[in-house]
Amino acid sequence: MDRPVQATDPSSTERPSLRELATDPLITRDYEARPALVYESLRARHGAVAPVDLLGVPVWLALGYAEVLEVMQNRDRVWSKRLDAWRDYAEGRVPRDWPLLPALEVDHVVFQEGRRLEELRGAYHAALRPFQDPASPQARELRAATARYADELIDVMTEGSGGSGFADLSAQYARPLPLMVVDRLLGFANGAGDEVLMDMWRVLDAGPDSGPALERLLAALAELAAAKMARPGDDFPSHMLAARPEFTVDELSRELMMLVGVAGDFPGVLINNTVVEVINGGAGVRDSLSAGLIRETVNRVAMASPPMANLTMRCPSTDVRLGGRLIRAGEPVMLSVAAAHADPAFTGGAGLDRADRVYQTRAHLAWGAGPHHCLGVELATMIVETAIDRLFARFGALSLTLPPDQLPWRSSPLMRGLRSLPVRYELAPRPAQPVPSPAPQPVFEPEPDAPRPEQPRSALWRFLRGLRRGAR
Ligand code: HEM
Repeated sequence: MDRPVQATDPSSTERPSLRELATDPLITRDYEARPALVYESLRARHGAVAPVDLLGVPVWLALGYAEVLEVMQNRDRVWSKRLDAWRDYAEGRVPRDWPLLPALEVDHVVFQEGRRLEELRGAYHAALRPFQDPASPQARELRAATARYADELIDVMTEGSGGSGFADLSAQYARPLPLMVVDRLLGFANGAGDEVLMDMWRVLDAGPDSGPALERLLAALAELAAAKMARPGDDFPSHMLAARPEFTVDELSRELMMLVGVAGDFPGVLINNTVVEVINGGAGVRDSLSAGLIRETVNRVAMASPPMANLTMRCPSTDVRLGGRLIRAGEPVMLSVAAAHADPAFTGGAGLDRADRVYQTRAHLAWGAGPHHCLGVELATMIVETAIDRLFARFGALSLTLPPDQLPWRSSPLMRGLRSLPVRYELAPRPAQPVPSPAPQPVFEPEPDAPRPEQPRSALWRFLRGLRRGAR
C-alpha cells in the first residue's frame, strides 16, 4: 500500500492519520527470533501505542498495559471487533491476498459485538459449563479422559524404547493432546473423529496439504452440526443447540471451527511453554510444581509467554485518544498482550521471572479481559494441568536437547509457540496411574442406544509412530 511518510511525533498538533504515518514493519527476522526486543524498541520510539506495518497493512499496535486493558474493557463502547468497523477494509484498501484475511473474514463469536455477541457468548457459556464446572460429572469424566489420552500418547512415544530415548514433545504430545480433547467434545460418532482430528492438525499447521484438509474439515463439521440437530448427545455441539436452538447448520459449524482453532491449538502452545519453564526451573516454576501448585505454574507461564501474543484488531467508532495518540474512527488497533506484560508499568520494573511475583499473576491479560474475555479458561487450564501432571509423573527425567535460546519458534502476528520441543527422556521406574474415571452419570439424557465409545485411533497412532521412528 503506497503511503506518504511523515514523522510520528505524539505531541504533533497536525495529528496525521495512520495511513499518513511512517510505519515500522512488525514481522521481521528479529520478531521471529526475539519479539520482546521488537516490542521494547517500538515502545522506546513511539510510547504505548505504535504505528506498525503489519505485512503491508498499517495498524496501531498497543504496547502499554493500561492501554491494552482499556481497549479490552471497552467501557465507553467505542471499540468494535467487527470487520466492517475497519475503514480500510470496508473501503476496499486491504489487499485481497493479505495473509491475515482468512482468519478475520470468519463470521463467528470473536468478530461480533452487541446483542449478537451476548447471544453467542451465552450459548458458549452454557455449552461449556458441563465440561468446565469441576463439580459436574462431564467435567470429571473429561479430566479423566484427558489423563488417559496423555498416558496413551506417552505409551506410543516410548514404546520399545527400553525406558529412555529422544522425542519431540510438541508433535508427539502437546499438539495431539488438545486435539484429542476437542475431538471428544465434538462428539463424532463411529470413529469418524480420528480422520477429522488429523485434518484439524493439517489445517492448524497451514502446511501444503492444509487446503484440501480445510475443505474436508468444514464439510465434516457441517455434517456433524446437522447430525446433532437431528440426534443430540452429551457433547459441545448439542449443548450449543440446546442453549440457542435457532442456530443454523452454517452458523453452528462456524462456531465449531472456532472451537477447533482455539481449543485445539492454544493449550498445546501453553503445554510446550510450561514444559520448558519447568525443565529450566525458570520463573520459580519448579518450586511451584513441587509444591503441587501446577495451576499457579500455568498461570505464571501464560503471563511470561502468552500463547495469544497479539489479539485481532479493534476499531473505534469515533476518534479517540489512546496512550497520547489520536486514533481516528475506523483505524485498527492490535492489542499486544506480550508487550503489555513486559510494560514496566505492569512489571514494576522487575523481570517476569521474579519468584515473588507468584501471587501477583492474576491481573495478567493472557486470557483477555472485558466483553471478549476467554470463555474456555477452565477447559484450557484443565488440559494443560493434566498434561503437565502426567508428563512429570511418567518421566523420571526430562531434559532439552537444545539450549533454550535455540528452540525453534513458530511465530505468527497473533501467536507465539514452539515449532518443536526436542527432549531426552527417562521413564520413571513404575509409571504412576491416572485417577480412574468416575462411573458415568449421564446428565444431558443422551440417546439411550448411543453410548460414547472411545475413538479408534488408527490414523493418529500411525502418524505418531512414524514420528517416533523419525525421532530416533
Ligand atoms: C491456552 C489456551 C487459550 C488461551 C491462551 C486463550 C486466550 C484467549 C484470549 C486472549 C481471548 C480474547 C481474544 C480477544 O479479546 O480478542 C480468548 C477468547 C476466546 N476464547 Fe480462549 N484461550 C484459550 C483456550 C480456549 C479454549 C480451550 C476455549 C474453549 C472453547 C476458548 C474459547 C474462547 C472463546 C469462545 C473466545 C471468544 C470470546 C469473544 O470474542 O467474545 N479459549 N481466548
